[in-house]
Amino acid sequence: MEHHSNLLPWRMLQDLRGIKLEVVELREDGSLDMDALKSVLSGRTKLVCCTHVSNVLGTINPVAEIAHLAHSVGAVLVVDAAQSLPHLPVDVGALGCDFLSFSGHKMLAPLGIGVLYGRKALLAELSPFQYGGGMIRDIVSDEFAWAELPGKFEAGTPDVAGAVALGGAVGPDEGRRLEGSVDYLTSLGMEWVQTHETTLTEHALQGLERIQGIQVYGPQEAQKRCGLISFNVEKDGAIVDDHLVAQLLDQAGIAVRAGGHCAHPLIRRLGVQGAVRVSFYVYNTIEEIDFFLQTLQDIVTRHLLP
Ligand SMILES: Cc1ncc(COP(=O)(O)O)c(C=O)c1O
Repeated sequence: MEHHSNLLPWRMLQDLRGIKLEVVELREDGSLDMDALKSVLSGRTKLVCCTHVSNVLGTINPVAEIAHLAHSVGAVLVVDAAQSLPHLPVDVGALGCDFLSFSGHKMLAPLGIGVLYGRKALLAELSPFQYGGGMIRDIVSDEFAWAELPGKFEAGTPDVAGAVALGGAVGPDEGRRLEGSVDYLTSLGMEWVQTHETTLTEHALQGLERIQGIQVYGPQEAQKRCGLISFNVEKDGAIVDDHLVAQLLDQAGIAVRAGGHCAHPLIRRLGVQGAVRVSFYVYNTIEEIDFFLQTLQDIVTRHLLP
């Protein structure tokens, strides 16, 4: 279920450090196989990592339960929240995770900025992963001391503009705040964001069910997923090229993503070459979902079906 960004670093550690990587499989309904997870955990497990929400299936994983299982064998839990934090309330304390990361570009902020949360005691133990200005307290001959957290992980000149756009900042006039996307989403309320997306997703799922030849991946219930739906169109027993479907939607002014979604093992597991992914956010409306459904229906009827 993992995005390549939560797979390749561990695969690289396999080569560099000789760690053993175990992959927990999915169930047919697009949920994680929790029995398989339990069966691979042991006293030798150092780290468990998972995505909070799949960027292909939309599945919301039971992170608190996974944290409990990981901690029961003394492992650390790393959570990829790139697809969850922009869409639903996330409380690292309630989830019980040790590390959690998310990206600005999925939550109305610029590309190239993101956040890593870590439990302070664990961050204090960790060595820096890159070196440069601003990350040491002092250096005398070959003796040096790392800067206080988070400075020791922030080598070099930071992306200040990106950080302000994501997290906001206190302006030069006292009390004046420059709003970042975190402020904006907080003002909307993450409960509202989740409810809004669930309403749109439910409407879209029901509509997709009525269109001939549509194959939807992931949980069927809107409550079990986030605001995205990956699907393919089937014609004469074969899957229509996902890029063609995306292009036809694009011609009607609807922007979707097609392809492997940086999750190739999952796409292969689904038995396809790629999938079309339609996704919703705070600015989308029921009318837009209806327009998407009508357009897809027209594409299927006019272009794809005999
Ligand atoms: C679930 C998930 N994890 C990780 C990423 C990658 O984020 P970044 O490119 O900011 O590392 C994405 C997509 O951008 C994603 O959907």
